[in-house]
Amino acid sequence: MNKDIWLFGYGSIVWKADFPHEERHPAYIRGWSRRFWQGSTDHRGVPGRPGRVVTLIEAPDAICWGAAYRIAASQAPSVMAHLDHRERGGYDRVAVDIHLGVNRPGTVTGVTYFATRDNPNYLGEATPEAIATQIRASAGPSGHNVDYLLELEAALLAMKTADDHVSAITRHLKRLNEKPS
Ligand code: SIN
Repeated sequence: MNKDIWLFGYGSIVWKADFPHEERHPAYIRGWSRRFWQGSTDHRGVPGRPGRVVTLIEAPDAICWGAAYRIAASQAPSVMAHLDHRERGGYDRVAVDIHLGVNRPGTVTGVTYFATRDNPNYLGEATPEAIATQIRASAGPSGHNVDYLLELEAALLAMKTADDHVSAITRHLKRLNEKPS
């Protein structure tokens, strides 16, 4: 690789940038919605008791906000190898047009990690309440599933790019926590 790489993150990559990068900006992609429809048996759940993490679902009129990172060409092979390993639970690396936010307007071609509906860990649609219930009950080698949800919500709010789907699940989680047991 002799060129810098742009990476778009919309899930843990928004808030857990455990790789060297030259720039980070709020950014969006067109035609996709973020949904907690992917199962996690390696990070936020375990085999037989999967947690829920986000993937992208095709939605022609939607935009999905996240974070774009510019990775230096010299670092790209090791960063991509690290992320391929981190995202191995069902995600493929795909090319995408990334629209950078107001801090650095413009469109760049980059990559994102996408879990298709036919990967073995895919769980699919559920109500926000059912998703919150599953997240509340799940944990894996990377920690509790609740932390994934709340870190993502906080990072999106910090960028002023809140997402209705994520916020609805967070609201249900808070309600569940308030219910007497
Ligand atoms: C991403 O963050 O862009 C991919 C999904 C994840 O790792 O949560």
